[in-house]
Amino acid sequence: MPDSITDTPTVTTADLPDTAPEAEAPVPGRGRIIAVANQKGGVGKTTTAINLATALAAVGRRVLVVDLDPQGNASTGLGIESARRTRGTYDLLLGEITLDQALVDTAVPGLAVIPSTMDLSAAELELVDMERRQDLLRDAIRRATNRFDYVLIDCPPALGLLTLNGLVAADTVLVPLQCEFLALEGLSQLVRTIDRVTSTFNPQLKLEGIVLTMYDSRNKLSSLVSDDVRSYFGDKVYDTVIPRNVRVSEAPSHGKPVLLYDLACTGSQAYIQLAREILQADAQKREMPNTTETGGLTPDSLRPAGATAAQSAAHKDTSMEGPTGETGDAS
Ligand SMILES: Nc1ncnc2c1ncn2[C@@H]1O[C@H](COP(=O)(O)OP(=O)(O)OP(=O)(O)O)[C@@H](O)[C@H]1O
Ligand SMILES: [Mg+2]
Repeated sequence: MPDSITDTPTVTTADLPDTAPEAEAPVPGRGRIIAVANQKGGVGKTTTAINLATALAAVGRRVLVVDLDPQGNASTGLGIESARRTRGTYDLLLGEITLDQALVDTAVPGLAVIPSTMDLSAAELELVDMERRQDLLRDAIRRATNRFDYVLIDCPPALGLLTLNGLVAADTVLVPLQCEFLALEGLSQLVRTIDRVTSTFNPQLKLEGIVLTMYDSRNKLSSLVSDDVRSYFGDKVYDTVIPRNVRVSEAPSHGKPVLLYDLACTGSQAYIQLAREILQADAQKREMPNTTETGGLTPDSLRPAGATAAQSAAHKDTSMEGPTGETGDAS
């Protein structure tokens, strides 16, 4: 792998409070693959993937970010300059490079990325005729769980073949939800897609959780959306809320996760808190391996609390058409 960038400050375990359970040594064994997905654009998928990954790496976890978005924002935000983006996810999906060849180091110790290249924008069309087209990413990154504790897949803002590959490859889905008008409407489309993936391609897929992003405490709408989402999805919504914070939006133009750009800002602290919640839940699952507190992503598990099975079924008719079905909504 290429050398790390050494001229940027690095975040270390010492930067974080030592009271967190994540201060324990990482548990060896199979890592987890988490798809960060929401077909709605600009809700904080990439920001969450980059900064959650950084916070997990900062406490000693080995983390990989897979940039599955042709926009390449995760690669840019992690400071991968164009010279190190000659090959990446696209080549890996097509089997033209190995996992080892695809990995690029970042400035964060323990955090690698598989960058996105321009070619990835053609992938939706090019992969359509391939056999097992929805399994390509799963096959390509399966072995990554031997060497990474967490693999975070940054999905594009559409429910096309790339996102489908992300959901088929993943153990769980983490859904960033922006605190804005109609946030729940967009979520129901994603839930229907996830239902389809669990029933057809990846029955093991579970919901990692829903994280509220860009929360503005001065805006009453933010708290109304938060209340709404929590009353529908209960404990599947993280306690941690990511605030709207200008430092978060500045960091990508410096090619840094916000945790490197300004560790003390509220955005960085929120992502550290989110990582802590995830690590705590993982620690609990290890103690009680048979618990399923994140739940399976069956239609029932994602049905809003209080909704009936019939209401849930009524949504079914507009499910994603199939592995090549394009129900994208990149708004
Ligand atoms: N907590 C935040 N506070 C302020 N700005 C934020 C925050 N989170 C994200 N942003 C900004 O909002 C914009 C969209 O965020 P981001 O790129 O993470 O969303 P996305 O869901 O990945 O978008 P896309 O769907 O285009 O991939 C970016 O300019 C980002 O810097
Ligand atoms: Mg993005």
